[in-house]
Amino acid sequence: MRYVLLSFAVGLCWLVTSAPADVTSDCLVCHAGALAERRPDGSVRSLHVDGQKFFLSQHGGEGCLGCHGELGLGPHDLAAGRLPAIDEQYAPFLQGLSTSRQIALNNCMGCHKEAAVGYMASDHGQARKAGSEIAPLCDSCHGNHYISSLDDLESPVGIDQQVDTCASCHADQKVMAQVQLGTHVVETYDLHFHGRKRLIGDRRVAVCTSCHAPAENAHTILKPGDPQSTVNPANVDQGCGRAGCHPGVGEKFALSFGHEVPSFQVRPIVFLIGKVHYFLMSLVLGVMFIHIFLDITRRRLNYRRAARAALAAQAAREDEAGGHA
Ligand code: HEC
Ligand code: HEC
Ligand code: HEC
Ligand code: HEC
Ligand code: HEC
Ligand code: HEC
Repeated sequence: MRYVLLSFAVGLCWLVTSAPADVTSDCLVCHAGALAERRPDGSVRSLHVDGQKFFLSQHGGEGCLGCHGELGLGPHDLAAGRLPAIDEQYAPFLQGLSTSRQIALNNCMGCHKEAAVGYMASDHGQARKAGSEIAPLCDSCHGNHYISSLDDLESPVGIDQQVDTCASCHADQKVMAQVQLGTHVVETYDLHFHGRKRLIGDRRVAVCTSCHAPAENAHTILKPGDPQSTVNPANVDQGCGRAGCHPGVGEKFALSFGHEVPSFQVRPIVFLIGKVHYFLMSLVLGVMFIHIFLDITRRRLNYRRAARAALAAQAAREDEAGGHA
């Protein structure tokens, strides 16, 4: 493996000459620099980690080994080294990944067992287990080195960014075509009540997982047709009807909130009202612009006429004054 080593030599000297201090600082001696690796296909992969941002993240206290435990100090020859112990129950979800990613994700799941249980039961987890290369894993939604608290504006899964994170796959035609799913879900979310309120800054509205997963575990996202799915009208008390949202509503209410695009066949009344609204708005705006145009033209004409009359009157006065002299 060939790699670009900008801080490697310095790091090695430093490691050899200094007493073994905190391991994370040791890792950062090399990785805080502009370290990168050239892949066999010629592309370059950055191996840089911003130490300051890392220490400020939720995992600053866990240190690098919290996730990269079995990796050991670099350069890391995992192929030749011992095989890491991957938990049996997580292994089927991690097949086909690089050893380093398997170790890291195995550790995410080990520390966050509840999230892992929800993930493994979800459609995403099941697809991953069945060999899907496009189904998300922990780091697809959360990132890796700079994971913030869920309340943070920058959290990719919090209320401010979650829609964009789901959209990175669910609005991507190339990805969704592979699983025969539509990319309409994000666009329709933005158009419906919750999406509109979110766009004007309301932080209480439902985002994707508010409807698609139970309140106690955002990871258990199931197919809408699954009898356990929270968007299945049979489970309305766990979906729309959950505490803090619309308690007490029935199945009919649940059926009215999906992603369908209104048409003559689906919700014709909504579709027709939309069309009439569009027509009336165009008419009113059109007439308004014509009115403004005519008004401005009239005013300019009047102004010119008045100016001409004033000039004529002045000329007449001057003529009169000349005649007297
Ligand atoms: C002496 C410099 C040096 C030190 C110290 C070092 N690394 Fe590395 N690291 C490298 C180099 C070079 C590579 C790329 C080649 C490789 O994978 O061995 C790398 C690659 C990696 C990778 C990517 C592996 C992969 O195959 O995807 C991870 C993860 C990593 N290091 C984590 C760490 C951690 C955690 C520590 C501290 C325990 C650490 N490194 C300490 C130089 C170092
Ligand atoms: C919260 C878990 C977590 C912690 C803590 C963590 N990493 Fe990572 N790291 C990951 C994951 C997940 C990946 C992606 C899988 C892979 O390629 O190894 C990754 C990848 C890497 C890579 C490969 C390049 C990349 O960005 O994909 C390097 C290098 C690396 N980590 C170094 C470090 C260093 C140095 C520290 C400590 C300062 C650290 N990591 C702490 C989870 C973590
Ligand atoms: C499809 C995207 C997605 C994937 C994949 C994902 N998460 Fe999450 N994660 C979320 C969302 C969304 C939330 C909740 C955000 C909220 O409630 O505001 C969350 C919350 C969390 C939390 C905090 C709340 C809790 O449940 O403890 C942890 C920890 C967590 N995830 C870890 C993981 C781990 C570990 C994995 C891998 C097994 C993983 N996540 C996979 C989207 C994801
Ligand atoms: C060594 C144990 C450990 C590992 C490994 C680990 N975490 Fe964490 N994680 C924690 C601790 C401790 C916190 C902060 C306390 C808390 O809120 O649970 C945290 C916080 C989080 C949060 C924010 C939770 C919140 O409520 O705001 C998310 C999301 C998260 N981790 C996801 C991950 C992901 C994804 C990975 C793997 C890439 C991972 N963690 C690996 C221990 C770990
Ligand atoms: C890395 C890409 C990726 C991300 C990110 C992602 N998904 Fe998915 N999602 C998929 C794929 C691929 C499938 C289809 C899995 C399969 O093969 O059954 C899927 C399936 C689903 C399904 C089931 C659809 C059906 O009818 O089969 C729902 C619901 C869903 N995702 C919601 C979400 C939500 C909500 C988020 C954000 C929290 C999210 N996804 C993030 C890739 C992604
Ligand atoms: C108000 C609740 C609600 C919100 C918010 C919501 N969904 Fe849905 N979603 C549903 C319902 C109900 C269905 C099943 C009926 C349908 O497909 O219209 C569904 C279906 C889906 C499907 C399956 C579609 C298919 O073609 O089979 C996916 C994927 C999905 N949603 C993703 C998302 C994503 C991504 C977001 C965030 C941008 C989101 N949903 C926000 C209620 C919601």
